[in-house]
Amino acid sequence: MSSNQPAKLTMKTMFLSLLVLSYSVASFHCSTVPENTTDMFSLLGFKQAITSDPTGILGYWNSSTTFCQWEGITCSRTHPGRVVALHLTGLRLSGQISSSLGNLTFLKELNLSSNSFSGQLPPLNHLHKLQILDLGRNLFHDTIPDALANCSNLQTLYLHHNSLVGKIPATLGLLSNLKDLWLSYNNLTGTIPSYFSNSSNIQRLSLTDNQLEGSIPDQLGKLSRMQRLALGANNLTGRFPQGLLNLSKSLQVLGLEMNKLGSTLPPNIGDDLPYLQRIFLNRNIFQGNIPASLGNVSGLERLDLENNKFTGQIPTSFGKLKTLYELNLERNNLEATDAQSWEFLNALTNCSGLEVLALDGNQLQGALPHSIGNFTSSLQMLLLGENELSGIVPPSVGNLQSLIQLTLEHNNLSGKIVEWIGKLTNLQQLVLEMNKFTGPIPPSIGNLTHLTILSVAFNEFEGPIPSTLWNLEQLTLLHLSNNNFQGPISPDVSHLKQLVDLGLSSNKLTGEIPNVLGQCSNLVSIEMDQNFLIGDIPVTFSNLKSLNTLNLSHNNLSGTIPIVLADLLLLSKLDLSYNHLQGEIPKSGLFGNATSIYLDGNFGLCGGAMDLRMPLCPTIPQRKGNKSTRIGHSSSASGSISSIGLKGTIGYIAPDANAILKSV
Ligand SMILES: *[C@@H]1O[C@H](CO)[C@@H](O)[C@H](O)[C@H]1NC(C)=O
Ligand SMILES: *[C@@H]1O[C@H](CO)[C@@H](O)[C@H](O)[C@H]1NC(C)=O
Ligand SMILES: *[C@@H]1O[C@H](CO)[C@@H](O)[C@H](O)[C@H]1NC(C)=O
Ligand SMILES: *[C@@H]1O[C@H](CO)[C@@H](O)[C@H](O)[C@H]1NC(C)=O
Ligand SMILES: *[C@@H]1O[C@H](CO)[C@@H](O)[C@H](O)[C@H]1NC(C)=O
Ligand SMILES: *[C@@H]1O[C@H](CO)[C@@H](O)[C@H](O)[C@H]1NC(C)=O
Ligand SMILES: *[C@@H]1O[C@H](CO)[C@@H](O)[C@H](O)[C@H]1NC(C)=O
Ligand SMILES: *[C@@H]1O[C@H](CO)[C@@H](O)[C@H](O)[C@H]1NC(C)=O
Ligand SMILES: *[C@@H]1O[C@H](CO)[C@@H](O)[C@H](O)[C@H]1NC(C)=O
Ligand SMILES: *[C@@H]1O[C@H](CO)[C@@H](O)[C@H](O)[C@H]1NC(C)=O
Ligand SMILES: *[C@@H]1O[C@H](CO)[C@@H](O)[C@H](O)[C@H]1NC(C)=O
Ligand SMILES: *[C@@H]1O[C@H](CO)[C@@H](O)[C@H](O)[C@H]1NC(C)=O
Repeated sequence: MSSNQPAKLTMKTMFLSLLVLSYSVASFHCSTVPENTTDMFSLLGFKQAITSDPTGILGYWNSSTTFCQWEGITCSRTHPGRVVALHLTGLRLSGQISSSLGNLTFLKELNLSSNSFSGQLPPLNHLHKLQILDLGRNLFHDTIPDALANCSNLQTLYLHHNSLVGKIPATLGLLSNLKDLWLSYNNLTGTIPSYFSNSSNIQRLSLTDNQLEGSIPDQLGKLSRMQRLALGANNLTGRFPQGLLNLSKSLQVLGLEMNKLGSTLPPNIGDDLPYLQRIFLNRNIFQGNIPASLGNVSGLERLDLENNKFTGQIPTSFGKLKTLYELNLERNNLEATDAQSWEFLNALTNCSGLEVLALDGNQLQGALPHSIGNFTSSLQMLLLGENELSGIVPPSVGNLQSLIQLTLEHNNLSGKIVEWIGKLTNLQQLVLEMNKFTGPIPPSIGNLTHLTILSVAFNEFEGPIPSTLWNLEQLTLLHLSNNNFQGPISPDVSHLKQLVDLGLSSNKLTGEIPNVLGQCSNLVSIEMDQNFLIGDIPVTFSNLKSLNTLNLSHNNLSGTIPIVLADLLLLSKLDLSYNHLQGEIPKSGLFGNATSIYLDGNFGLCGGAMDLRMPLCPTIPQRKGNKSTRIGHSSSASGSISSIGLKGTIGYIAPDANAILKSV
């Protein structure tokens, strides 16, 4: 035995000398006496394989302290010099994990989450004491090794947010102590192994966001301690797994969303799973009625069934759910036709914690019940768009003063919007488009100072745009298009400095486009077509550096096309057709691409890029000196004439040049 000792030492010394480290064996031996150095060599091997350590943390792994005091290391109390925990998280470490870690045989906890480790998972099959393994949020891209099953004491296994491929190994079923298994956000394929059922202590299983297919094994129902089961965003098919109904004493969270699961739900689901708190079955192809028994799940907080094919009525039993805060039933085929089938709404007003009620995209018909105003002040989001609602909006809606989002688009609602609107002072989004609302917008709209999105497009609103509307300085989207609004656009539009999308098309707006609109420098889209606007296209649009779409067609605009528009690099759709524009069409920028600009119906335009097929501009002789003179570009007033516009071209006179000459 003693004859082996020198050989072993030499080997270790050689190993060390390979390491490019400021580490001295001698000084280590001076500072410590009884420790087993096996683990130190493993750690140095681990350190050496790390290729990038931006925070420099491993610089502190040096001989000035014993390795048991290095950052992230915990050693055993009972076995001096044996590492029991290694925690280095969120340090942007990259490189591979050295297989030497597999020699830390006393290790109980290994947490290297949120780094950039890549390559294969390290071989950990000798770590029989390992209880916690967290390698989540790294860049591992291999398969999960079968040999992990040898870590028979594992309780927590997190490999989520990597790029792992291949199948879930059958052997994971041998980990009988496993409580938490998170393999979500990888690229795992194959089916969910039914032998998971041997890991009978599992409490939280997350396999979301992989590419798993096949059906959900009924045997998962044997995992009687399961609290959270998350299988969403895979490619799973088949029915709702009946076996899960056996998890009646434990299951709290059930996530099967974004798969291809179908058929009907078990009618007794709510009675069998009474401890559910959150249910996500959205984005599948479930059909049939929504089981009324869900109303018996007394602690239910979130029920998300959106984007399925559920039919029939919304159960009134939901009114019993005192802790419900989100009910999302949007995009199904749910019906309400008469007072009895609308009764659910009245019932839901008893859910005193309800914050989100999404019923849009169904077949709810007829008038909204007045009881809509009886929801408690908890309600923040009420989505009723894309149904078949008709009649007026009950003024009781004005009671819902905590509402942040109210959407009623794509219905047949009619009548005037009355003062209820001005009471909803917390609203951030109000969407009323595609209905048959009439009358003016009440001035009290100006009370909704938190509004960021306001769309009333495609209705029959009339009258002037209320001046108070321009108080809504948080607006990013304002759609008033396709109504009968009349009168001028107030220069106060320039108060809307956050505005990104302005839609005023198809109204009866008159007067000039305010020059100050050029101050709304976040604008990406301006649509003002099909009105009665007159005057010039503002040269100040040169400030709208984000502008992508400008549609001013079918108005009575005159003057020339400001050459500065050619400098708007993001402008990709410009429609100025059917106005009274005249003069030379710019050639540069967007104007070089005939497919992005529409200029028809302006009989005074000439020149431009070849493929516009516009008449050539007439020329005038050179006047002073040898400078050619170019008339009519209103851009000259802005002082930011595009250099291309002046370069070596001949001047011209537009058809009614006299008028232009006077105005310049
Ligand atoms: C150190 O630990 C290893 C692994 O447990 C063991 O094989 C070796 O004998 C120990 N060495 C000493 C000096 O205790
Ligand atoms: C070694 O680590 C100590 C802290 O443990 C640190 O203060 C010192 O700067 C490190 N030495 C080198 C050379 O990095
Ligand atoms: C692990 O330990 C064994 C025995 O001490 C040794 O032979 C081997 O080289 C070590 N492996 C690594 C990768 O350090
Ligand atoms: C690993 O460490 C991170 C950061 O400290 C922590 O959030 C995470 O819960 C740990 N993992 C386990 C399984 O305890
Ligand atoms: C698992 O551990 C046992 C000893 O406990 C060993 O014989 C076996 O080779 C290990 N399996 C793997 C795959 O490492
Ligand atoms: C999964 O694979 C696809 C392509 O095969 C890739 O685009 C995607 O980024 C991968 N996802 C992960 C989490 O690795
Ligand atoms: C699961 O457990 C059963 C009985 O305990 C055993 O027969 C079977 O081999 C185990 N299967 C796996 C994959 O561990
Ligand atoms: C789901 O399966 C279909 C074929 O059944 C396949 O085309 C599709 O790419 C799969 N999607 C994912 C995310 O794996
Ligand atoms: C669920 O329980 C029923 C009755 O107790 C039993 O027949 C069935 O085998 C169980 N299913 C699973 C998957 O455990
Ligand atoms: C709803 O509120 C109205 C008053 O707005 C009241 O008359 C009615 O009784 C309430 N309905 C319920 C079911 O509370
Ligand atoms: C809303 O604004 C109007 C004037 O536009 C005002 O008379 C009314 O008091 C305001 N209502 C609330 C609730 O602030
Ligand atoms: C012209 O515009 C069209 C449509 O906007 C676009 O698809 C095309 O790539 C553009 N061509 C050039 C040469 O920029």
